[in-house]
Amino acid sequence: MCGIVAVIGSREAAPLLLEGLQRLEYRGYDSAGIATVDAAKSSLTCKRAQGKLVNLVKLVDDQGALGQLGIGHTRWATHGKPEVRNAHPHRDSSGGIAVVQNGIIENHSSLRKELESQGYEFASDTDTEVIPHLISRELNLIKREGETSNSTWLLEAVRKVSFQLEGAYALAVIWEETPEALVVAKRQTPLLIGFGEGEFLCASDTPALAGFTRTILPMEDDEVGLLTPLGIELYDSLGKRQQRSPSLLKGQEDVATKNNFRHFMLKEIYEQSETARLWTDRYLPLGLSDEAPIALPFEDSFYEGIERIQILACGTSRHAAMVGAHLLEQFAGIPTTVFYASEFRYAPPPLTSHTLTIGVTQSGETADTLAALAMEAKRRAVYGDIAFASHQLGITNRLESSITRQVPNILDIGAGIEVGVAATKTFLGQLLAFYGLTISFASRSKQCSSKEVSKLINELRSVPSQLITLIKQHDEIAEQLSQQFVDVQNVIFIGRGINYPIALEGALKLKEISYIHAEGYPAGEMKHGPIALLERRVPVISVATPGVVFDKVLSNAQEAKARDSQLIGVAPEGRATEVFDALLPIPEVSEWISPLFSVVPLQLLSYHIAANRGLDIDQPRNLAKSVTVE
Ligand code: AGP
Repeated sequence: MCGIVAVIGSREAAPLLLEGLQRLEYRGYDSAGIATVDAAKSSLTCKRAQGKLVNLVKLVDDQGALGQLGIGHTRWATHGKPEVRNAHPHRDSSGGIAVVQNGIIENHSSLRKELESQGYEFASDTDTEVIPHLISRELNLIKREGETSNSTWLLEAVRKVSFQLEGAYALAVIWEETPEALVVAKRQTPLLIGFGEGEFLCASDTPALAGFTRTILPMEDDEVGLLTPLGIELYDSLGKRQQRSPSLLKGQEDVATKNNFRHFMLKEIYEQSETARLWTDRYLPLGLSDEAPIALPFEDSFYEGIERIQILACGTSRHAAMVGAHLLEQFAGIPTTVFYASEFRYAPPPLTSHTLTIGVTQSGETADTLAALAMEAKRRAVYGDIAFASHQLGITNRLESSITRQVPNILDIGAGIEVGVAATKTFLGQLLAFYGLTISFASRSKQCSSKEVSKLINELRSVPSQLITLIKQHDEIAEQLSQQFVDVQNVIFIGRGINYPIALEGALKLKEISYIHAEGYPAGEMKHGPIALLERRVPVISVATPGVVFDKVLSNAQEAKARDSQLIGVAPEGRATEVFDALLPIPEVSEWISPLFSVVPLQLLSYHIAANRGLDIDQPRNLAKSVTVE
């Protein structure tokens, strides 16, 4: 979380920083700030504002921030409340050194105590504030003599401070005594250098750079960089100069617009039919053979020896992984386990052989998912499972993200930029990625006949057109139904089998954008406890799609209705659905592909409930699009 941006060149820095921050606001919007150095006066200006970036833009418009060198930050609060005093940049006691940071300094508390005992005064509750004080202390210790310039001293001070920091960080530092340079450093948190025309930039993520340049150089862990108007220098932790060439951005990093939609989330829900069309055109073109029925970008060797799959993911991506696991096990016959990446990191299961590890992350930046993948690769290497140490797959929507640099095999969901914090079209894209893998594994394992595989492929090809109608229909139905949720405070979602993860996803969507408490539950488990919650004021939304568990889900729904709950069904019309008080109809499709449809009404219902409440749907409170801290 948090986005940082830095620039040095021949143009005024403030407008560039604000533009970069606007493209990073999805990483946090608790506060924002910039600091610039005016070379003419050798003075540092710092402007910070609580809340969204628009507040900072106004402040900078009113008060100005001169200089062609600057750093900026958009914050998702970890340490310290979202108040101005905790907003970045943070400065040393003299006010001449300013730092922005993304990450968590785990030993900040002991560092702070040490600095305070030496007379350093703190102005915030953040972990970051130790850094400018540490840099100031190092600068005082460095013997400033001989031919070396101030910028070399700053570089050296930051390098030395990096040894004292524990945890993950990406940081950018300016000092009013070095208007010709800024210093950047990183460990386990992304930081990319951009080569602009007449300027050099640095940012947490590619969208912030894409408006200025397509030539980028990702920094490596424990590197320190010096940026001047003339070029960049990178050093490793021992101070040895590093030489690497930049590369060109491949992906589409354009800033999305809302067009005529009220919110990005609604636009992105509508875009799901296009996500599906692009996916089927790309991976399921006509004319593929029975032996290779899908055009995934992997050689045969990729599949060799895989007997098990484990999937690491968080949030909505984990729900997609759960649908994927159901498909991989039940359709393709590959034992598959899904883990919360955050749990896996500290309690991994005993190693199993011939196991492919998959990481699912739309942003490609989720700290827990990346760390769990890295830990698993290391663990396997240590135990001598070399083949499967490096045999990992990432499913992502961001081809320029950290996961694509970390994992050798990538499956691109190609959903296009998703701005709404609530994932919708990327969820659909992740589901489709798992259908692709399922087809690949099923056709190799011969668990099912080629006829069954062809049937699944044909069904998938019809998804884009069916989604167009479904989304439009449910936009209207959900808008009406949402009126009944004005006073609702708790909602239960139930589903079974392949649609149990859809119940979880429906509950997550409702929670995150409407702030209504919601639980997703396997329908058959309700009577083991949660049914006690049911009463007139607690609606139950039941995902009931024809298939092996259809009758079971309907019985479970009846049980809920008998407890006075209003019962809303996500089910095909006319299939014993009279049990429902309200119906969110979906097409009657095979159970295998039903999640691609059953999730849509739930997304739209959550959207309209939140819209009725007048909430900030695209940037819900306390959340960020990329969760880059653990
Ligand atoms: C989705 O609506 C949520 N905002 C969140 O659960 C998200 O899916 C999760 O943080 C994982 O993100 P990732 O896919 O970028 O890894």
